[in-house]
Amino acid sequence: MKDQSQDEAYFYLLGPGEPRKIRFHDYNEIYQIPGLYEQIYYDRLKCTSPTFVATILETTIKHSSGNFTELRVLDLGAGNGMVGEELKNRGVSRLVGIDIVPSAYDALIRDRPGIYDAYHIQDFTALDQETRSEIISWGCNCMVTVSALGFGDIPVKAFIEAFNIINKEGWVAFNIKETFFDKTDTSGFSRMTRELIFSNYFDVYHIERYRHRFSIDGEPLFYFAIAGKKNADVTDEFLQSIDVGLF
Ligand SMILES: C[S@@+](CC[C@H](N)C(=O)[O-])C[C@H]1O[C@@H](n2cnc3c(N)ncnc32)[C@H](O)[C@@H]1O
Repeated sequence: MKDQSQDEAYFYLLGPGEPRKIRFHDYNEIYQIPGLYEQIYYDRLKCTSPTFVATILETTIKHSSGNFTELRVLDLGAGNGMVGEELKNRGVSRLVGIDIVPSAYDALIRDRPGIYDAYHIQDFTALDQETRSEIISWGCNCMVTVSALGFGDIPVKAFIEAFNIINKEGWVAFNIKETFFDKTDTSGFSRMTRELIFSNYFDVYHIERYRHRFSIDGEPLFYFAIAGKKNADVTDEFLQSIDVGLF
């Protein structure tokens, strides 16, 4: 394994034939090999995020007298279902998964069948009308996105699309790398997150810094986990005013 910046790190997969170089963020390749995603991120690098984000969501709702088992969750960047499994075990009512790479769905069906009520392979930056209507029909009152924001993964436009699809006053839980809160990070995603958190569109109920996982060099990588409540759909005017490069 070789360390680079978090989105460039890669490893060699040994097997029959030539060793294969695979980038850590090449999820389409990783999901195709049974157990590889779990071995890299969970067994070796000790990723805690699905459990951590699910826990703060559950605690937040409990402290607000909400009912966790009534959640109908839109899981953006659902991958092979680690987060869905965590939420299902805690008793959520419905789960709708979204991912952009086709092998995520294949891996889900192979490794965790029956977790999601619906699962779409979709690019949320260009969601077609039929799929949008189908997703809206689930009446999701919660959105989660775990370890999937920034770093060339889910862009601002896709995050906002999902945020606007869930019900007004829906719950929202996600995690972000700690440097996204640093004003020296001028990426669109970083700016959007900072602005959204302090905006009227979203009320933060819980924010906590935690160890997301280790880097390949064994260094802890810290993230913030955030849970809160949506107040209203994010408008184009807001996105224009914070200049996140969408217009
Ligand atoms: C690190 S994985 C996290 C998967 C899962 N949430 C978990 O915690 O195990 C990031 C996931 O985000 C997905 N992803 C990246 N860009 C995306 C996009 N634009 N829309 C939807 N999913 C995306 C990737 O395909 C990948 O499955």
